[in-house]
Amino acid sequence: MKILLIGSGAREHALAWKFRQSDITDELWIWPGSPTMLAHGQRLDIGNDARWEDLARYAKNQGIDFVVVGPEQPLEDGFADACQLIGLSCFGPLQAAARLESSKAFSKEVMAAAGIPTAAFFVVKGEAECRAKARESLQRSHGVVNKASGLASGKGVFVCFDEASIEEACQRLYYSGMAKAAETVVIEEVLTGRECSFFVFMGEGEPTPLGFAVDHKRLKDGDIGPNTGGMGCYTPVPWLPADAGDQVMAKVVQPLIAELAKRGMKYTGCLYVGLMWNDEGFAVVEFNARLGDPEAEVLAVHDKRDWTKLIAMKLGLLPEDRHFLAAAKDNSGATVCVVLASSCYPFGDSPTGRYVVPKSVFANTNPELCAFAAAVRLEKDELVTGKGRMLTIVTHAATFAEARKKSYAHIDVLTKDWQGVQFRRDIGSVLENDR
Ligand code: AMP
Ligand code: GLY
Repeated sequence: MKILLIGSGAREHALAWKFRQSDITDELWIWPGSPTMLAHGQRLDIGNDARWEDLARYAKNQGIDFVVVGPEQPLEDGFADACQLIGLSCFGPLQAAARLESSKAFSKEVMAAAGIPTAAFFVVKGEAECRAKARESLQRSHGVVNKASGLASGKGVFVCFDEASIEEACQRLYYSGMAKAAETVVIEEVLTGRECSFFVFMGEGEPTPLGFAVDHKRLKDGDIGPNTGGMGCYTPVPWLPADAGDQVMAKVVQPLIAELAKRGMKYTGCLYVGLMWNDEGFAVVEFNARLGDPEAEVLAVHDKRDWTKLIAMKLGLLPEDRHFLAAAKDNSGATVCVVLASSCYPFGDSPTGRYVVPKSVFANTNPELCAFAAAVRLEKDELVTGKGRMLTIVTHAATFAEARKKSYAHIDVLTKDWQGVQFRRDIGSVLENDR
């Protein structure tokens, strides 16, 4: 198979690594890519400012069998539609279905129509209606969540427990650069419980679950500090009921497929289901139209299946092989990842220091300990750290305690002289008695 992988973060680095493990990956093309991803494939020779239609056509001419899209923006922009138009297979939904992520109002409306469990909600337009509805909801319950409907890089959600925080949410939504994403706002009830996410590959044949992961979103140990893109995560999730996967398939994924079919839509790609679990059951917090970052990094390592084959089956390029899908469903052991971020993450622009990451960090092909890079660039043949989330260190072992020990032993050596690096010390620590 000739694959084109779109993206440049640690998620896409992990995907490139995963596709390279496959016997049927003949060529791996990458765009726009990163220096570390290029160890696994070749950059598609087209400029960074190429239009999506041009990129799709270029890939088609190159004889690519299928494209895999890492981030959400190309999907919102209609890249999958551009591929479909010229008969190029794309693992990532068409623009209309990608609205499950890019429009929270649409996603909630679909959930309501499909009978999928989710928080009660209203859709509002404009600041006055938003403030009035949020205040009114607060009178009837202890809290209220205000969410920009459009893509807001994780910054558009405000959980409010008093009028002052509703006011602050309105200021942020309407006056801090996300007014476009907040043209429509979803107001919903506050859910309580423990959060986790479920991932499923969809397309031809039955949907194939990859499993659950938990992301630690806050910057600091003990889940304090600002929200981030994710500071580390773990899979599987031992605190869930044993039939959690079957429940989510039956109550979320199957009704969603049926509801989309009624609207003439079919979802191809990875569906990310954000969930809140408590003693009474679960509710869907959000859908995303892609793999998570850093969830992709733990799932790619934990799942022993050949993802080139799996995706080719979802795209109808290979016949569905039920034996392969069932035989490879090995969920044993524990996989943990820790994200190393620059000193200025998540707000600032100027990291203290500059660190040269030894290339040997990426040379390890053993899934027991892998490193995937995001903000790391090539300078005079050296890999130099930049700003933001820089590296994701993934370890796999028989238990969470062992996986954590292995991660932090490696990180302690790696960060000995690394000025200002930030990472959490408690990823997966609540699990040491769980498994
Ligand atoms: P979202 O982008 O919709 O996933 O929201 C981002 C984060 O806000 C979630 O991961 C939750 O931690 C929190 N959140 C969103 N909706 C709710 C809700 N209804 N109740 C409680 N927390 C929520
Ligand atoms: N780690 C959360 C996300 O990818 O949305």
